[in-house]
Amino acid sequence: MTRSLRRTLDIAVDLGTANTLVYVTGRGIVVSEPSVVAIDQATRDVYAVGLEAKQMIGRTPATISAVRPLRHGVIADFEVTEQMLRYFLGRVHRSRFAHPRLVLCAPSGITDVERRALVEASSAAGASAVALIEEPLAAAIGSDLPVAEPSATMIVDIGGGTSEVAVISMGGVVCLESVRVGGYDLDEAVALHLRTRHRLATGTETAERLKIELGSAWPVHDERVVEVRGRDMASGLPVAVAISAGEVREALAPTL
Ligand SMILES: Nc1ncnc2c1ncn2[C@@H]1O[C@H](COP(=O)(O)OP(=O)(O)O)[C@@H](O)[C@H]1O
Ligand SMILES: [Mg+2]
Repeated sequence: MTRSLRRTLDIAVDLGTANTLVYVTGRGIVVSEPSVVAIDQATRDVYAVGLEAKQMIGRTPATISAVRPLRHGVIADFEVTEQMLRYFLGRVHRSRFAHPRLVLCAPSGITDVERRALVEASSAAGASAVALIEEPLAAAIGSDLPVAEPSATMIVDIGGGTSEVAVISMGGVVCLESVRVGGYDLDEAVALHLRTRHRLATGTETAERLKIELGSAWPVHDERVVEVRGRDMASGLPVAVAISAGEVREALAPTL
């Protein structure tokens, strides 16, 4: 009796190269964390997942490494991806008896085998039903675009590892182009510029911050300057260098 009265739990998961988001009907986005897992390379034990794991990057003992199981829109390490998915779902529904229905959007570059494997991993994590939705379609619905109309709508999604351009009409993806270039490549371009032009060694986090703060593809009125801290490559000593928005734009240009 009580069972039939219980409301089914519906969950949506965006399994991204950079970040994983979990949405629960009625509760909103309950997980928004980096797709990172800290794992013991010898025993394969998982130490931390998400934000906690990302913070461990570069600070772990030799045997523990923080890995991104999804890379460039493909599943580089399936076993770890499954553990990550289980962990995030476990945080959302604690009861072993509630089997949520799940809609999952995964990178569009994944193969049929990987697609099936993801559905299996979601079921193994406790989902009663799993549906996969194409990422550009989910993005278009989320952006309130008229996806059901018989007219073409174009959507561009730039992620961490890949960028997708899709044309949507009448509720489906008509054509899709995916390139394995994304935000991470922009971070690397900024880091490379700092190394070659200023002999400044920085972590990717610093490069990413600089990209977000000053990055643009086109000249913007606001030509700000930001001080970047790093290590001088010749002396090894900590230094600070002033970087302008124009310089960041120049560094990003070859990748764009
Ligand atoms: N304000 C911003 N300006 C430029 N890049 C950004 C900004 N916010 C996030 N990013 C970049 O977006 C990328 C992550 O996008 P996301 O959609 O979460 O990726 P994915 O779908 O691959 O998980 C990262 O490379 C991050 O640096
Ligand atoms: Mg994405």
